[in-house]
Amino acid sequence: MRTPIIAGNWKMHKTVDEAICLTRELKEALKDIKDREIVICPPFVALHALKAELEGSNIKLGAQNCYFEDEGAYTGEVSPVMLKDLGVEYVIIGHSERRGYFNETDELVNKKAKALLKKGLKPIICVGESLEQREASETESVVKKQVFRDLDGIEPYRIKDIVIAYEPIWAIGTGKTATSEEANRVISIIRDTVKEMYSEKEASLIRIQYGGSVKANNAHEILTQSEIDGALVGGASLQTDSFTAIVKY
Ligand code: 13P
Repeated sequence: MRTPIIAGNWKMHKTVDEAICLTRELKEALKDIKDREIVICPPFVALHALKAELEGSNIKLGAQNCYFEDEGAYTGEVSPVMLKDLGVEYVIIGHSERRGYFNETDELVNKKAKALLKKGLKPIICVGESLEQREASETESVVKKQVFRDLDGIEPYRIKDIVIAYEPIWAIGTGKTATSEEANRVISIIRDTVKEMYSEKEASLIRIQYGGSVKANNAHEILTQSEIDGALVGGASLQTDSFTAIVKY
């Protein structure tokens, strides 16, 4: 059985004080949840403060990006070692905003995934098609190619520590979601791809989330689908009420 994982991607929102405030509310609202993993991914600058806030709580800390080297002359970058030191457990990589605005490629995502795993951190690897690709019936081929490239060369025993987030780009921040059946269909294609690369065992272990306009009012429908192991939530993770409702779907 795969444990559902609900992660909040705060993107570039919240000052440190605001992040502490939201975290305190979430800790209280979610303190009784035991059967699913809860992760919050604030901006880098809030990680240090939130490590202290989350001590002893059931909410885990995540980051939104990282570089693949441990240290060096890479101005502006943050390494897996540094994130580990801040109590981070999960790191989102390959988000479509990073691929789109900052030209991140599957090759880079693959290097980041390997660097994270080597340091005992768990990557949340985002994949998903654009509206253009969907309309050209390329969803399946685009997503499969991303999975093949992003997981390339990763040893089978690491797969249980990897989360894939299927985030169709046209559903992010738009209020449009894939129907739950469609999200479930693409996620089973992703699982089949993992089976093709590894085996049935790895395919059954890897957790695959859906992301893209997940809200309190559609979480239940999406998260009760057979292949969907959780959600990567953007906008609705910025308020206590909506994120709590999603976690408790
Ligand atoms: P929204 O939930 O705001 O659509 O964002 C989804 C997302 O990009 C999460 O990583």
